[in-house]
Amino acid sequence: MNPTTLPAATYHDTAVRQFALMSVVWGVVGMLVGVIIAAQLTWPELNFGISWLSYGRLRPLHTNAVIFAFGGCALMATSLHVVQRTCQVRLFAPALASFVFWGWQAVIVAAAISLPMGYTQGKEYAELEWPIDILITLVWVAYAVVFFGTIGTRKVRHIYVANWFYASFIITVALLHIVNSAAIPAGWMKSYSAYAGVQDAMVQWWYGHNAVGFLLTAGFLGMMYYYIPKQAGRPVYSYRLSIVHFWALIFTYMWAGPHHLHYTALPDWTQSVGMVFSLILLAPSWGGMINGIMTLSGAWHKLRDDPILRFMIVSLSFYGMSTFEGPMMSIKTVNALSHYTDWTIGHVHSGALGWVGLITMGSLYYLIPRMFGQKKMYSVKAIEVHFWTATIGIVFYIAAMWIAGVMQGLMWRALNADGTLTYTFVESVKATYPFYVVRMFGGLLYLFGMTVMAWNTWMTVANGRSVTVAVPAPQAA
Ligand code: HEM
Ligand code: HEM
Repeated sequence: MNPTTLPAATYHDTAVRQFALMSVVWGVVGMLVGVIIAAQLTWPELNFGISWLSYGRLRPLHTNAVIFAFGGCALMATSLHVVQRTCQVRLFAPALASFVFWGWQAVIVAAAISLPMGYTQGKEYAELEWPIDILITLVWVAYAVVFFGTIGTRKVRHIYVANWFYASFIITVALLHIVNSAAIPAGWMKSYSAYAGVQDAMVQWWYGHNAVGFLLTAGFLGMMYYYIPKQAGRPVYSYRLSIVHFWALIFTYMWAGPHHLHYTALPDWTQSVGMVFSLILLAPSWGGMINGIMTLSGAWHKLRDDPILRFMIVSLSFYGMSTFEGPMMSIKTVNALSHYTDWTIGHVHSGALGWVGLITMGSLYYLIPRMFGQKKMYSVKAIEVHFWTATIGIVFYIAAMWIAGVMQGLMWRALNADGTLTYTFVESVKATYPFYVVRMFGGLLYLFGMTVMAWNTWMTVANGRSVTVAVPAPQAA
């Protein structure tokens, strides 16, 4: 048969489209819960005396919704999009990709029901009970099969660096989840950790820190390495640096977990190892940030009228800020001041809202119109509004938490001449009150931006159609 009469092979983008849309939906939900708990910290009576609306149950709902539902769906959408384009091949096992989508939504719904009901393993970012953990494992293995299967059947020899970051995120999250969730069931929704005492704490923060390093960082760096060059229309500033960045980052992150356990029963030398590796981590983090930002060299003028590029570049500035702040907070004497205070919450959200949130939004603004046969989003003006409300919201949020955090730390350690405490704890709570109001206002602005994005997405999809994109013919070697 004449090859030109063969039907053109097209990419399998159904799961990409589904995950991208659900990321926007869960973004609104997760941030709404964030605003609700921020309001509860300001006005505690907002739980109305109903147990499933209590702060202790809604807080893990917030963290799970924003990290695993909003962030997780965005990572799955973009990784399945990027891996096909950079390998010039269709998705391996698309039926399995569909299982990954529906399975992951089932995990999210199970979390949204079980957490407010009070079912929890009590491990931060790993609260879900063992039956849900098993479902996560099955979905994750299927995701790995789809991703690595696609890499395995690629038509281009080279594996583009974005795929290395996505691959390390997929492998590491599997490892972290299986090790940290090991538990002995004691009923359908009750279990006891397989570890005890300080070992349990160490395993938990090895997990917790690497969830930050591989889920909230490496996966999103995969996005950075594909979508920034695409949106800027420029190649990555230094491909060599991107490879050094990859190996240095994944090697260093693994050792930094003990900085979450300074001044605890953990052996002192372990805490020092965590601190030293956290300080070293500054170098690969900044190397990556510089590589992303410099990709714009020669095209800086595009920032003037491209709000999507602005999302991406400002996200890198926040990445740089939080990866400078993190190593500083890991120094034991600094941690003695920052730990238990709202400074940590400020650090978390400069990374979460600034880096994770903005790079996701920028990448989805690139991806969504293309997945629905449009050249651009329905309203570029709305992207502009989103950018400014989100950025101003972040500044309110993190500035309030920094000031509140340092103030709390200083008040708790202030001593009178006779050695008694200068302030009671409740005085520090009272002093924090105005900062909680400011944080809630910042959160509201950020949430407003996200709802504008949801409207813009709705309009883009309503005016578009699902498109099939042909896989390019393999190039001659
Ligand atoms: C070089 C990179 C980084 C280092 C060395 C670092 C270091 C730290 C340190 C020392 C703490 C405080 C631990 C404590 O006192 O309990 C912390 C907390 C945290 N950081 Fe980072 N950080 C880095 C980057 C990031 C980024 C980019 C994000 C988000 C995207 C992030 C998210 C978090 C979270 C969620 C916590 C709170 C964990 C908890 O207690 O629940 N970090 N980090
Ligand atoms: C409208 C936006 C948001 C608001 C108003 C908000 C608000 C909050 C509040 C009030 C807390 C509890 C703080 C405390 O216990 O003192 C919290 C915790 C947390 N949030 Fe958010 N949040 C938002 C968005 C996000 C996003 C997008 C992410 C991640 C991508 C995120 C990740 C986290 C994490 C990891 C924690 C736990 C921090 C820790 O334990 O140290 N948040 N958030």
